[in-house]
Amino acid sequence: MLLDRTGGKNPTPIVDNLTPPTPLDEVDPLVLLPRRLADKVRAARRDVAMLGSRLILGKTPAPLIERPRPVPGAVVSRARKTPDMARTIKVVDVVHETADAVSIYLTEKDGSPIEFKPGQFLSVDVTVDGETLRRAYSLASACLPGVPVHITVKRIADGRVSSHLNDTIEPGDTLFVLGPSGNFTIEPRAVNERHFVMLAGGSGITPIMSLLETVLHHEKRSKVTLIYGNRGWDDIIFRERLARLTEELGDRLVIAHVLEQPPQGWSGGTGLLSEDVLAEQLNALGIEDDGMLRYFICGPTPMMDAAHAVLGQRDVAGSRIAEERFTHPEDRHGSVGSGKMELVVISKGGSDHGVQVAPGQTILEAALAAGLDMPFSCAMGGCGSCRVRQRDGEVQMEEPNCLSRSEKEQGYILTCVGRPLAQTRIEVEGS
Ligand code: FES
Repeated sequence: MLLDRTGGKNPTPIVDNLTPPTPLDEVDPLVLLPRRLADKVRAARRDVAMLGSRLILGKTPAPLIERPRPVPGAVVSRARKTPDMARTIKVVDVVHETADAVSIYLTEKDGSPIEFKPGQFLSVDVTVDGETLRRAYSLASACLPGVPVHITVKRIADGRVSSHLNDTIEPGDTLFVLGPSGNFTIEPRAVNERHFVMLAGGSGITPIMSLLETVLHHEKRSKVTLIYGNRGWDDIIFRERLARLTEELGDRLVIAHVLEQPPQGWSGGTGLLSEDVLAEQLNALGIEDDGMLRYFICGPTPMMDAAHAVLGQRDVAGSRIAEERFTHPEDRHGSVGSGKMELVVISKGGSDHGVQVAPGQTILEAALAAGLDMPFSCAMGGCGSCRVRQRDGEVQMEEPNCLSRSEKEQGYILTCVGRPLAQTRIEVEGS
């Protein structure tokens, strides 16, 4: 193409060479397609039905394909097999951790344990006042065989879903979920001897709890230092569970609680987890960064920014910092796209596929509707599973989302919250 251009010739437009996927309603894929491919078509239809009917129309589509079920007896680091496993699961217990945080214990519908990696989350669909809303909640239990699996939901101001779950959920209820998803995780290895510094604010403790319990169980020579900020003593989620762990583990788990509104006689840290308070805590705990420490941070945005600033001052390389940002859909500003049909060329597995994206549709919705087998999981900008590289054109994403600044600078976008503003080309890497 470049040589043609040098010679003054315009190459044939790429779009003319595109072969749109065969409309599925004109053939019977069960008859014409090999079995494995037919399964993929069924899966894609199911995903489209889920995204379209459930999110837009608020209906639950009938299952078209039985997705793989987890094998009972979950062990750590056995990842689920399908990243987009949308299904109904069972609530088996409900425990109120604090006045505004509830742990919801869950199993698969057949009673088998939910498989996940420590630090991952579930995307949960909840219908409130006739509207289906999706939120992500971390799995806060240790990822160990026989340990009951739960998410923990903290009520947020004006949070419709978190309030609904705190106020109404009961054992025997069911939840419609996707996932688990997320890369905020650790692969524990018994031979390791590591020191993790974990910084958590409020409900940011939920993935941290799963990470620290799991890693300290498997790596008997590793240790964790946790700095955990809350408003008051009674707001500390998992307060007793953490206290029990420090008793069991001795100096392998050191916890510094920091309270904004401490009770009388409090001798721990005070204030919000600001840059100054975090620096003070790290100094008081004698945390000297030797280039080997690994950091896990999760909490409200101001705390995360403060943590990055403090670690930056200590010359901690970004590669040693793992972070999980909770984005509340209430805080998101949407992307509306161009308002007209746009062509998105999707390079995948060595072929180009032209997909027309209708006004309001995300690239993911349009691609699934066209029968393409696209990677995705949470479908709400929170996990990064749908990350693709934008090769040209223009895409607008809902913000905030889980892409890091450097990923955006490298040209990555999320198809589940991305809408084209012009003709665009994207590439699904590794396909
Ligand atoms: S599917 Fe999770 S970010 Fe897009």
